[in-house]
Amino acid sequence: MTALKNDRFLRALQKQPVDVTPVWMMRQAGRYLPEYRATRAKAGDFMSLCMNPQLACEVTLQPLDRYPQLDAAILFSDILTIPDAMGQGLYFEAGEGPRFKKVVSSQADIDALPIPDPEKDLGYVMDAVRTIRRELNGRVPLIGFSGSPWTLATYMVEGGSSRDFRKSKAMLYDNPQAMHALLDKLAQSVTSYLNGQIKAGAQAVQIFDSWGGSLSAAAYQEFSLAYMKKIVDGLIREHDGRRVPVILFTKGGGLWLESMADTGADALGLDWTCDIGSARARVGSKVALQGNMDPSVLYANPAAIRAEVARILAAYGSGTGHVFNLGHGITPEVDPAHAGAFFEAVHEQSAQYHQ
Ligand code: CP3
Repeated sequence: MTALKNDRFLRALQKQPVDVTPVWMMRQAGRYLPEYRATRAKAGDFMSLCMNPQLACEVTLQPLDRYPQLDAAILFSDILTIPDAMGQGLYFEAGEGPRFKKVVSSQADIDALPIPDPEKDLGYVMDAVRTIRRELNGRVPLIGFSGSPWTLATYMVEGGSSRDFRKSKAMLYDNPQAMHALLDKLAQSVTSYLNGQIKAGAQAVQIFDSWGGSLSAAAYQEFSLAYMKKIVDGLIREHDGRRVPVILFTKGGGLWLESMADTGADALGLDWTCDIGSARARVGSKVALQGNMDPSVLYANPAAIRAEVARILAAYGSGTGHVFNLGHGITPEVDPAHAGAFFEAVHEQSAQYHQ
C-alpha cells in the first residue's frame, strides 16, 4: 500500500505530536455541495449512489478536491446498510428520511435475523472502500464507519426515524431480553462489518451512536455502551503495520465521557453541548477528543465562524489529542464557502497550540 502523505489525523487520534490540529467534518460529502447533488442525480437516488462503488468513491473525494485542508476522507455510505443486509428492505422516500419495509417487533422477528457476511452481503461497501483507497493514493487516511447497535435497533424497531423512540423504548422496558437479543446480533454484525472495512482498507473507524443520548444514564450503560464495548473488544486494532484508531460518538453523551473512555476506544466524538476543555480534564490521557463546533455556526458569517473555531481551540488548549470536527453533521442549507472558512480557520489558528 502507498505511504500516507498526510497522517496528522491518525497521529492526533493516538496523541502523537502534530503541526496543526487535523480537521474533517461529519457529512462532508453531502447535499450542501452542488457536485454531490449532481452525482446523486446521475446515480438516480441516494441508495443507488451508495451501492455504486465508483460513484460512492467520486462523492467521497469531492470535498477533498474542493477543500485542500481536509485531513481525512470518510467512506460514503450509510449506517442503515446493515439492517438492509439483514433483510429489512431499506428505502428512502423523498423528503421523508429512511424507511423499512419490514419492522422488528417480536422475539421471533429477532430470531429470524441473519448476521450479514461483509463480503457476500455488503460487498458493495467493501468494494467502495477498496476503490476509495486506490483513488486516494495516500493523500489522507480513510475513515470507515457503522451505526451503534442501539442506534440501528431504533431504526429497525420504529421502521424509520423517530422523535420519541416510542416502540424501541417500549421494547427495551417491556421485553429487555428481546432487546438484548437484537443488540447482541447487531453487535456481532457491526464487528464483522467494521473488520471487513478495515481489511478492505479503512484506516480508522467511527461508531455513530446518534441516539444513545435519548436513553437514561442506566439504560445507556446497559443497552448502548455495553454493546459498543463488545464491538471495540472484537475489532482489528492494527492493520498493515499501523494502529487502526476507533472513535466512539454518542450524540448527547457528554454526561458519560468517563465510562465511554473506559471502553478501550482511542477517541471520543463530542457534540457541541459539552465544553471541550472540561471534557479533556475529565478523560485525561485515556482518549483523544473529536469535535465539537455547533453545525449551526456554519450559517453565520466567516468572521463568526473563525471566532468560534478560535474559542474551541483555546478551550482544548495546547498539545495533541484533538481532531477538529462539527458536533454533528453539516446541514444541506450551509453555503460551501462557509465550510471552507471553517477548515482554513482550524489550520491557521491551531499552529500556536502545537509548538
Ligand atoms: O459523513 C459522511 O460524509 C459519510 C456519509 C454518511 C451518510 N450517512 C450519508 C448520508 C454517514 C457517516 C451517515 C451516517 C448516518 N446515517 C447516521 C449517523 C450520523 C448522524 O447523523 O447521527 C444516521 C442516523 C443515518 C441515517 C440516515 N441516512 C438518515 C436519518 C438520513 C436522512 C437524513 C436527512 O438529512 O435527510 C440518511 C440519508 C443520508 N445519509 C444522506 C447522506 C448524504 C442524505 C441523503 C440524500 O442525499 O438525499
